Amino acid sequence: MKPALTQLGNEMTRLTGVRAIMKDIVETLRSGAGQEFINLSAGNPLILPEVELLWRDCTAALLASSEYGEVVCRYGASQGYQPLIDAVVADFNQRYGLSLTARNILITPGSQSLYFYAANAFGGYTTSGTLKKIVLPLSPDYTGYGGVALTQAALFAYKPSLDVDTVKHRFKYRPDFSQLEIADDTGCVLFSRPCNPTGNVLTDDEVQKIVAMAAAYDVPVLIDSAYAPPFPALNFTEMTPLFGENILHCMSLSKAGLPGERIGIAIGDEQLIEVLECFQTNMCIHSPRYGQAIAARAINSGALADIAANVIRPFYQKKGKIVETTLDQAMPDVPWFLHRGEGAIFSWLWLKDLPITDWELYQALKQVGVIVVPGNSFFPGLRDNWEHTRQCIRISLTGSDRALETAMKRLAVVVEQVYQQSAVNQQQSVVAP
Ligand SMILES: Cc1ncc(COP(=O)(O)O)c(C=O)c1O
Repeated sequence: MKPALTQLGNEMTRLTGVRAIMKDIVETLRSGAGQEFINLSAGNPLILPEVELLWRDCTAALLASSEYGEVVCRYGASQGYQPLIDAVVADFNQRYGLSLTARNILITPGSQSLYFYAANAFGGYTTSGTLKKIVLPLSPDYTGYGGVALTQAALFAYKPSLDVDTVKHRFKYRPDFSQLEIADDTGCVLFSRPCNPTGNVLTDDEVQKIVAMAAAYDVPVLIDSAYAPPFPALNFTEMTPLFGENILHCMSLSKAGLPGERIGIAIGDEQLIEVLECFQTNMCIHSPRYGQAIAARAINSGALADIAANVIRPFYQKKGKIVETTLDQAMPDVPWFLHRGEGAIFSWLWLKDLPITDWELYQALKQVGVIVVPGNSFFPGLRDNWEHTRQCIRISLTGSDRALETAMKRLAVVVEQVYQQSAVNQQQSVVAP
């Protein structure tokens, strides 16, 4: 049966961003009988033994306790499971000198749902017909933002400015404050810090500037901290989470080893939290409580923050270094630039003047057994036709050390061929009558 879909039905069943590419990747892996691929496309974290053990131990403790029945056999409050809320309040107050109360916290089934609630509660058409924008101040950013707005027209991303170190083949995106507009028609602002896909960490000053621009219009700023400290602590440069009246600090336990349990945490002003909580009640009543109960234990004991800083962070930081050093050694003399690896679990490579598209490069890399993600999917909401969006790829740091090294060497060879072929073609077209 082919059901007739509404406008929204069509919108929500459309494969956006990386989901469209993932379909191609799954088909490639399935049909590539006999061919071994180094798959560096995943956003799925690896299972680290210490992390798995932590969650196993917390589960065993929960199973052995009288709390178990209360957790899984009963409904609870929309806002979240009280012991987890209390654990977050205590941890953040102590760690960052805050004075949060339980009313400042909302637990959601994964942080993706949090962005969905916020994008539609604050962005879209108001009762008077004004379109409130969901502003992404620095594009590229998380591909998942492309699917959260029920009113697609509301999603609005801004081109960044680029800090380029030509000699070292490195670069960094920065918000372009000469272009960025936050005004009366802004519903909310959203960005990831550290950033998926680039590994960028916006500086405190940059964040404060965005927050101040938004505060002038009472606009909430959602800081997607899926990779930030204190857990999973996937920052490789110093950074402190920032809090404030119009900041919604949004966390996820997915990269701290719990993606299957779907836990997102929002910390912010009581009134903002209440809006999101109502949205959640209508959508799904509340998040599952089993994951919340084990998370409460891991946070209260201090084990989660400890494992994040001492196991998860160094593990991915080392992978990032392998990508960097291999590219430094193997890349040909072409204008390539790696984004500064300041966090997250990805490397982001920009190939300036790339003679083919990112999609064609992705296909060429598949031919040599390497799968990455073409960068074009990471510019949701960007309306400019900017060639840069077709010159980048995202490399996931989830391969083994050896696989990452081999893949980067193969990538270097393919890149050399692509630029050389283009130079030959250009010469021939000059010579041809
Ligand atoms: C930047 C960013 N935000 C949000 C998410 C969604 O995470 P969750 O599993 O909490 O829904 C991801 C997942 O990869 C992400 O990379």
